[in-house]
Amino acid sequence: MPKPEKHVFICLNQRPSGHPKGSCTERGAQDLLMEFGRLIEAREAWGRVAITKTGCLGPCELGPTVLVYPDGVMYVEVKAGDVAEIFDKHLLGGCPVERLMAPAEIW
Ligand code: FES
Repeated sequence: MPKPEKHVFICLNQRPSGHPKGSCTERGAQDLLMEFGRLIEAREAWGRVAITKTGCLGPCELGPTVLVYPDGVMYVEVKAGDVAEIFDKHLLGGCPVERLMAPAEIW
């Protein structure tokens, strides 16, 4: 397996219904996972981009959260419709999407 250029961690933590913190899965993170996977296929980015499901990344109230390494960029409140922009501009183009980045006090 080649070392990926970008490794994307998607929080798929799930808490019981009604939990005060909620969770990224409750906020639609599964859709992000599907969209990142679809774009790896569509952009033929196998080996360049890796995706891993994770537990809680911290800022649950701003979920769904996505973390990109080796850059150490965290995205918050990501929607499925944002994934193509992250994929094309950041993962393939090297320019993080500032409008979706976690506030400085978070990360
Ligand atoms: S549940 Fe996703 S960041 Fe905490």
